[in-house]
Amino acid sequence: MPLIQWNKQLSVGIASIDEQHKKLINMINALNDALAEGQADDILVKIFDALAVYTVKHFGYEEALFSQYGYEETQAHKNEHEALINQIVNLQQKMNDGDFIIGIEVMVFLKEWLLNHILKTDMAYTQFLLSKGVT
Ligand SMILES: [Fe+2]
Ligand SMILES: [Fe+2]
Repeated sequence: MPLIQWNKQLSVGIASIDEQHKKLINMINALNDALAEGQADDILVKIFDALAVYTVKHFGYEEALFSQYGYEETQAHKNEHEALINQIVNLQQKMNDGDFIIGIEVMVFLKEWLLNHILKTDMAYTQFLLSKGVT
């Protein structure tokens, strides 16, 4: 069973953003599968790096919409994004230093973070962005 299963409760009601969230979930699941299969460290690191790149892209997409339409909660939302990026960069630095780090704790961290962020912080922009015609 995948680590994270998409369900309707996770939908923010905006198709383009739901697609990106699904992709993030798929990437986290792929990393978890690779870990469970005992894949080599460098393969796990590659998947993790791709997840990091896509996460930055997704955050950029949301933040561009916030500034385009003047979303009130922009700063607090951006701060949450930035905190996650900092944590990811920290993990990458440790990996570069040769301290291999991807394990269950990292998977739990990624899962909890993504689900909490979607359910609380992302969900809060739904009405606002829908009212601006974002799809
Ligand atoms: Fe977000
Ligand atoms: Fe998001």
